[in-house]
Amino acid sequence: MKDLFGKALLDYQNGNYTEDLITSTNISDDDELPLPYLFRDYQDMPKLEQKALQLSKGLTLDVGCGSGSHSLYLQDQGLNVKAIDISKGAVEVSHARGVKQVAHLALLDETETFDTILLLMNGTGIFETLNQVSTYLSHLKSLLNTGGQVLIDSSDIKYMYLDEDGGFWQDMNANYYGELDYFLSYKGEAELPMKWLYLDFKLLQQACEASGLKCEMLAEGEHYDYLAKLYV
Ligand SMILES: C[S@@+](CC[C@H](N)C(=O)[O-])C[C@H]1O[C@@H](n2cnc3c(N)ncnc32)[C@H](O)[C@@H]1O
Repeated sequence: MKDLFGKALLDYQNGNYTEDLITSTNISDDDELPLPYLFRDYQDMPKLEQKALQLSKGLTLDVGCGSGSHSLYLQDQGLNVKAIDISKGAVEVSHARGVKQVAHLALLDETETFDTILLLMNGTGIFETLNQVSTYLSHLKSLLNTGGQVLIDSSDIKYMYLDEDGGFWQDMNANYYGELDYFLSYKGEAELPMKWLYLDFKLLQQACEASGLKCEMLAEGEHYDYLAKLYV
């Protein structure tokens, strides 16, 4: 990983904001991901994220913290937060912005336990592929204190495969429609291709059941997105 995501966060943090990140997937063309969005305040967050922050309690883990926006808000509310990210740049920026506990760590390498675990901005993306979902869910379960909760958002992206007549055009031999190849570039340089998973609620619920977790829909967004709570 070249950590172009982290490089972009560092540029923004250090006042060198000249370009946005460019993202695309195997089913969609280039799209800009504005850097200021990755530094959003509570007021500029989607309702689902605001709800997740309102429901956070106790010792909290912010998984894939990015620039640390969710952690900073919770810290200000008096919560004890640990932020983790696999991007060195993201960890550096979160630290610089004032996140007190931040570690360069992948979710599967986390071993402490928490009352709330947050995975936000399509949190299921971190699972990468459908066949890794059970590994991640079992691990998340092992990180929960008694009475603890995982708050995670995602979208059902079936709408991206509907043609003008409402027909579903995905190749029958293809993998699950939410499993995408994700491409990112910044300042003319391309990151190594990544996998990114969008998981519809029903499938998340089934996977949770198989992993011994309960899965509750907390809220639905305006565009096939949702926030779910997972607990034992
Ligand atoms: C879409 S960004 C979201 C950032 C932040 N949560 C936000 O809402 O602005 C996903 C983040 O997850 C991080 N990430 C991806 N896989 C991860 C993993 N296995 N463990 C920890 N962080 C991960 C990425 O480096 C990136 O910072």
